[in-house]
Amino acid sequence: MTANPSVPDAQQVLKEQEMSRRRFFALVGWGGFLASMGGATFGTFRFMFPEVLYEPPTIFKIGKPTDYGMGVTDTLKKERQIWVVRNDKGLYVLVAICRHLGCTPNWFLDQQRFRCPCHGSIYDIYGNVRGGPAPRTLWRAAIALDPIDGQVVVNFIQRQDPDPKSTPEGLTVAEEGREVAPFFVTT
Ligand code: FES
Repeated sequence: MTANPSVPDAQQVLKEQEMSRRRFFALVGWGGFLASMGGATFGTFRFMFPEVLYEPPTIFKIGKPTDYGMGVTDTLKKERQIWVVRNDKGLYVLVAICRHLGCTPNWFLDQQRFRCPCHGSIYDIYGNVRGGPAPRTLWRAAIALDPIDGQVVVNFIQRQDPDPKSTPEGLTVAEEGREVAPFFVTT
């Protein structure tokens, strides 16, 4: 009896199975190698661009005193978290952070009051508490005039925080004691 040439014999089948097994392992091996090379390259690339957290500067300039008119200037609240206030003697800077739990109050020109949207604390133009749960008056940030360009330099970290007195109007600090260097510039 002669073998049918169209039917592969058992040896040939085994050979083909062995070949495809080898091909499979070769592919897995190459895949692993390429993946580890890719990971190493990515790690090196990331190392060249370290993750840096850019904090806003705590000491910054806000322009000349003449840039600020009488009363409250609200334009730096978002960018710098401050209000610049001018009275007939000079300038001071209030920190736009509520002394209750740290929300950002809003200035209402018609009422001459800062009002906190979170729990209703109210402050007057000096930062004294006129209502709500705030336990202390608004901070004032230290300021000075740059001797070279005459700009107002704000130190956001150095803050005036005197103990307020409880009065019928609310928690109050005598203004004379607040309008002193480095928390007030005469202009
Ligand atoms: S955070 Fe301003 S009243 Fe509570």
